[in-house]
Amino acid sequence: MKKGEPLHPPAKARGVRGACCMKTVVVYYSYTGNTRKLAAKIAKKQGAVLVEVKEKKARSKVGTYLFGSFAAMRQKKSKIEPIKYDLSNFDKIIIAVPVWAGYPAPALNSIIELLPSDKNIELVLSSSSGDTSKSADKTKALISRRGAKSVIYTDVKSVSAK
Ligand SMILES: Cc1cc2nc3c(=O)[nH]c(=O)nc-3n(C[C@H](O)[C@H](O)[C@H](O)COP(=O)(O)O)c2cc1C
Repeated sequence: MKKGEPLHPPAKARGVRGACCMKTVVVYYSYTGNTRKLAAKIAKKQGAVLVEVKEKKARSKVGTYLFGSFAAMRQKKSKIEPIKYDLSNFDKIIIAVPVWAGYPAPALNSIIELLPSDKNIELVLSSSSGDTSKSADKTKALISRRGAKSVIYTDVKSVSAK
């Protein structure tokens, strides 16, 4: 060991890529609160910044089940409020959204538009069944089209936030 070299050099100095300074953000949309709770838990565990995406227009319950589900199935976007973080400043972007009619809620399609290319993306889908098999391939394709470096896809069976 050279004179003056620290006994325990930081991970970055040891050449461990990503062990140090990996900046993570959890971007989520939640309608009834389950995904909010889940996203907060993930952010706490990973030491990540937590960012809520809000839709510009409030949804009624009936409107959500009818039009929201229909829009989700057609992979339509919804109008969302701007977020105050630039996602290009993060190495890993975790996105958490609920599942409507077997598809991610429309807010996901708007969040995807905000994604910079060449990022590690993790998608967490919160649903009462924990099953998105009918839409998973289509959703992954949308994210891959943004030029993601890697995509991890996770289904989570939700526990009611109430
Ligand atoms: C309009 C609507 C459609 C839903 N469709 C499904 C579905 O197809 N499959 C499923 O397992 N859960 C479905 N759910 C349940 C939600 O995905 C689940 O409760 C989720 O955790 C809600 O997240 P949130 O509380 O963050 O909005 C639906 C909920 C809503 C409001």
